[in-house]
Amino acid sequence: MKDQFSSKIGYVLAAAGSAVGLGNIWRFPYLAAKYGGGIFLITYLILVLTFGYALLISENGLGRMTGKGPIGTYRYFTQGRSGFPKFLAIGGWINALVPLIIVPYYCVIGGWVTKYVAALTTNPISNFASQKACSDYFGNFISSTWQPLCFFLLFMAILVIVVAFGVEKGIERFNKILMPILFVMIIGICIYCIFLPGAKAGFVYYLKPDFSKFSYMTVVAAMGQLFFSLSIAMGIMITYGSYMRKEDNLVSNVNQVEFFDTAVAFLAGMMIIPAVVAFGGEKAAEAAGPGLVFVTMPQVFANFAGGRIVGVFFFVLVLFAAATSAISLLETNVQTISQEMKISRARAIAICVVEIIAIGVITVLGYSVFKNFHPLAFIEKYKGMDILDTLDFISNNVMMPIAAIFTTILVVAVIGLEKFSREIRQDKKWYREYIFQFCMRVAVIPCLLVVLLQATGILH
Ligand code: ALA
Repeated sequence: MKDQFSSKIGYVLAAAGSAVGLGNIWRFPYLAAKYGGGIFLITYLILVLTFGYALLISENGLGRMTGKGPIGTYRYFTQGRSGFPKFLAIGGWINALVPLIIVPYYCVIGGWVTKYVAALTTNPISNFASQKACSDYFGNFISSTWQPLCFFLLFMAILVIVVAFGVEKGIERFNKILMPILFVMIIGICIYCIFLPGAKAGFVYYLKPDFSKFSYMTVVAAMGQLFFSLSIAMGIMITYGSYMRKEDNLVSNVNQVEFFDTAVAFLAGMMIIPAVVAFGGEKAAEAAGPGLVFVTMPQVFANFAGGRIVGVFFFVLVLFAAATSAISLLETNVQTISQEMKISRARAIAICVVEIIAIGVITVLGYSVFKNFHPLAFIEKYKGMDILDTLDFISNNVMMPIAAIFTTILVVAVIGLEKFSREIRQDKKWYREYIFQFCMRVAVIPCLLVVLLQATGILH
């Protein structure tokens, strides 16, 4: 029997679970803090509603039309053709390769989050009261060997168990339980943060656009974030689209996923930025980086009343978000491998486990045993980059824009926008069809090229 979600809500929660992940809670707030708060928020929202929407709907549409993963989908439209259309089949491989690169390092970070749930539950919160204590704690943890390895394996085991139960009984059920809890928790923590003394300055920073902080980097950073956050250009939405029932309204399903993902990113910013400003002023927000969740947030919790319990809830929330996304990445790989190699899901899962462990272990040890190994050392600009950042950079900044460019060309030039739009709308009203067509036709490729040129260092 064909794998599929059993209901509309099953698809929406699973796809929203995929979209809502570390990207929203770990990456979005520090990018927003770094690139000027309000102005980043507006730029991001505009891009989500146009460019992000166009790609999100394209990928889901492609998956639903073919019932296949990324490689099969591209093959479906390019088979039997010659010349350029045939060449486009490479796009399927790129889309399929991206989640294979992301899952291992996503599990490494998932392991860190799992460790922090345990740490905040068992340690007195006063252990995290200062900047030095928090950075030492984080630094000592990731540069040890066995602990991060064990937490990485634990996190991976959760994903494998859920995916092994299948699309409906595993993924759909898991998301149906976790996603509502996640929404309640994020709203609860936001309310706590809103009432922190000194939080008001943080709201102003986050919500009031300061146009003097706008530069082309604001757009580039927001666009890069879009891919990761909406789970586009990584094969996932093609895969989840292939599990959507034919009778479901694709347009309204995708609207809901887009809404949930953006709302959670917005709320994550509301939860984190005012708290950071209340604690360390605007300077702390501007200096934000990837350590925001692991180094700054524990300090924030340690310095406000009730912080310990909120801290535990915060990391459980991040854990849920990371797990639901990592599951979608793993499922994409499982579907691709089982369809392409014509093997059972169980065998495909076993292959994925070997792949995750092989790359994940090297990534974990990138902070200890392999700390002097910098895969991109031959490029001056990236010579100090560690293994995890290298995997993130290659997948996110280089391969995903290329994957999205291929998808755009597939939809616009091979299938044709009119035909594709008809398939999406299926005799129903589609209010944003014009925006979709406009973005696919005009905006997408130049935008993606900017991201790519910036990432490869050609554009400064
Ligand atoms: N969309 C997922 C995230 O935001 C991958 O983490």
